[in-house]
Amino acid sequence: MRKISLLFGLILTSTIGLKAQYNNLFIPDTLSGTEFNLNIKDTFAQVVASGNQTITGGINGKFWGPTLFFNKGEVVHMNVKNNLNDSTTLHWHGMHLPAVMDGGPHQIIPPGTLWQPFWKVENLAATYWYHPHLHEMTMEQITKGIGGLIIVRDSVESALPLPRTYGIDDIPLVLTDRDFGTDNQLVEVPYGDSMLTNFTLRAQYNVPAQVVRFRVLNGAIERSYNLGFSDSRNFYVIASDGGLLTAPVALNRYVIHAGERIEILVDCSADSGKSIDLKAYNSTLAQNVAGGDVFPNGPFVNYLARKDFNILHLNIGAATSNAITQIPTSLVSITPHLAANANLTRYLTINDTNIAGITGAAFLINHKLFDINYNNYDVPLNNTEIWEIKSTSNFGHPFHIHDVEFNILSVNGAAPAAAQAGWKDVVFVPAQTTVKFIAKFDDFADALHPFMYHCHISLHEDEGMMGQFIVTETSTGLSKTTAESHDFSLYPNPGKDKLFIAFNESNPSVYYISILNITGKAVRMLPQPEWQNGIDISTLSSGVYFLQLTDGKTKIVTTKKFIKD
Ligand code: C2O
Ligand code: CU
Ligand code: CU
Repeated sequence: MRKISLLFGLILTSTIGLKAQYNNLFIPDTLSGTEFNLNIKDTFAQVVASGNQTITGGINGKFWGPTLFFNKGEVVHMNVKNNLNDSTTLHWHGMHLPAVMDGGPHQIIPPGTLWQPFWKVENLAATYWYHPHLHEMTMEQITKGIGGLIIVRDSVESALPLPRTYGIDDIPLVLTDRDFGTDNQLVEVPYGDSMLTNFTLRAQYNVPAQVVRFRVLNGAIERSYNLGFSDSRNFYVIASDGGLLTAPVALNRYVIHAGERIEILVDCSADSGKSIDLKAYNSTLAQNVAGGDVFPNGPFVNYLARKDFNILHLNIGAATSNAITQIPTSLVSITPHLAANANLTRYLTINDTNIAGITGAAFLINHKLFDINYNNYDVPLNNTEIWEIKSTSNFGHPFHIHDVEFNILSVNGAAPAAAQAGWKDVVFVPAQTTVKFIAKFDDFADALHPFMYHCHISLHEDEGMMGQFIVTETSTGLSKTTAESHDFSLYPNPGKDKLFIAFNESNPSVYYISILNITGKAVRMLPQPEWQNGIDISTLSSGVYFLQLTDGKTKIVTTKKFIKD
């Protein structure tokens, strides 16, 4: 009897203790420079305070990968190693880059393979992110915590008096929610019952009494978050998905949807010694917005639906030296695309399932499910296009397009809100509403590799709410090519460190190189390789390999054997 009540007492205190207790916000590591090593793997972490560790997916660390710092104008090289037991892809969300480097569902990285895309950073300073994009597996792999932030810097942003000391007054916030099963393992559901900020439960953080910048990503599977502070103070939106705004926009609430980013400034100058909470005021979300939809039971049931809950508890301490203490009055000038310059309007629809023979798929674009072997649109290179998305769906969907940053022209006929009037790559399409945006497709024509557009609710995307387009060369079409353009030999063979390619033609064009092992499995994938300097084979174990080369003009694939010493 005694023992039992003692045990009961212990459980009670520890439960109460748990509720009051905050965990320090995890701040992802940073990587910078021009060469980035990303090792995707299954791992585990003590996410829940007690009990079993949680099996997670990590990039370099335990979950949620390093924040990558890019400088506009530099060429970045990625070494993405897939050490999962499954295939994956890694998509650079928001980056303007060649389709073959984009990491969409077509750039599959088999287990054990090194994928080495590279590109010149053309994006404006803002917050972007990277995440898996394997068709029908995106939700599962994002649920495990695979992904990370990208922060692009440029000379314009660097000249502004903004906080930019990472983790001190410039703080990354990745918002997700998850369900933990009884054994503390992640459950793959669209709505979690536990808020995770940077994969931290009940997060708290110490910030200095000055202007603090938060880079907020909605990295959730489905939920939108209605951001606000517990004392209803104003915050100032300075950047949308793809760049700074013309001036800070003062707000005390902002609904951020899956895939979107905003950067905000909060003035904590007068708050030393106080605590405030950043919260999701989701009790005010409409029923047709993700997180406002209350399902009493079934797979969509969740404890956070239409509730207000904490995102981050902030403890405000002393100011740092050289603190930013003013919210700037203006930021950058933006030259948006003008509707008058559009060559074409594309009409898309979002609709709830109503096609014969399809059951289970909830939402569709243009009344069709995604087909990875079907190209939905040819977009002529240099086109400026208006995409008009008419939704008859009873639910709101965050629509995302790869390759470009766009300007929203209208939402239900009205101009976009000030905080959405800059560069975007996700636009929320409310239920029963038409949204128009405009974009220019000014680079990266590629007849072989498409870019994607889709709903950024991973569940909807996996279920087929996605399409793809190819950017096509307008002038002469595909150039006819000389027959011998894939005639080459490899040396030295056997080789140890670098493998060189000798072409029997004067102007070879190499599109893609894969190195396969003796069983035919890809171990290395090099899109548009810089083959002139030799291919680094020093890390391959000795044995027989095949180099598979896709010709840039003909797209013909040729395979040659070599031996690694
Ligand atoms: Cu962030 Cu196609 O996705
Ligand atoms: Cu994307
Ligand atoms: Cu959707």
